[in-house]
Amino acid sequence: MHTTEWRKFLIPYENAVEELKVKFKSIRTELRTIGEYSPIEFVTGRVKRVSSIIEKAKKLEVENEDIAEKIEDIAGIRIMCQFVEDIYTVVDYIRERDGSDLDIVYEKDYITNYKESGYRSYHIIINYPIQTALGPKVILAEIQIRTLAMNFWATIEHSLKYKYKQNIPIHIEGRIKKAADAAFKLDQEMSGIRHEIRQAQKMFEVRSKTISNILRNIHALQKAGRTKEVIEFQAQFNKVWENTEVVDLKKLDKEISNFIDEIDGIN
Ligand code: GTP
Ligand code: MG
Repeated sequence: MHTTEWRKFLIPYENAVEELKVKFKSIRTELRTIGEYSPIEFVTGRVKRVSSIIEKAKKLEVENEDIAEKIEDIAGIRIMCQFVEDIYTVVDYIRERDGSDLDIVYEKDYITNYKESGYRSYHIIINYPIQTALGPKVILAEIQIRTLAMNFWATIEHSLKYKYKQNIPIHIEGRIKKAADAAFKLDQEMSGIRHEIRQAQKMFEVRSKTISNILRNIHALQKAGRTKEVIEFQAQFNKVWENTEVVDLKKLDKEISNFIDEIDGIN
């Protein structure tokens, strides 16, 4: 294929990556908006470089006309999670969508069955329908779901492999495997204290929401010319805002809201 033919060939893959990124990112945005925990931390995506596609086709002895059918990761997206448990939440979520906006071809669980290299991730290969100028088309795409620790390890291992052109010196290989064990332990540790971490994250969110609510309301009172109350509430806020416990902040928030409701009722 010539450059222009490659370009044309890759267009649906580029669209698929963009669409899938939007879809998974919006899950996060949606959940965060309603104050829920998101199992998705962040999402990335890429279209495989032409040189890498050619290389892989050669390695797998795939003819040019079979590339779309045999190479599954021309379109790839990566979903990063905080905890291993979140990976399975995301997997369930994708399974629920099987048959609607995507079709699952197969799944590879490299978490339970981690690879010889130490690689861990959950992969789902999907068929994804895309609209092109020439009509609808179904392409293959690879979704990799992993924790931040798994991603950290895989990124570094990948760059080392790249640097050493696949021939990683044996002593370095050993250390990479050790690092994989450490990443695995980190995930286990994090899972162990997951509830505490989640609780702390929630507390932080409640706190910052309450504070911004209070400040917004004080500002509204200021605009309404309620100087006396503004000074009073501001003084109360200054007293409690640094408290570790969020109860006093919430009490103040309520008090100000009630006051605003009251004067709104009068006006
Ligand atoms: P390739 O590894 O891409 O040739 O594909 P494959 O058909 O062998 O599928 P596999 O499931 O082994 O790998 C798919 C993708 O997972 C790769 O393209 C990488 O992104 C990732 N991956 C698999 N194994 C490793 C690994 O040992 N290290 C790193 N860093 N990534 C890996
Ligand atoms: Mg492989």
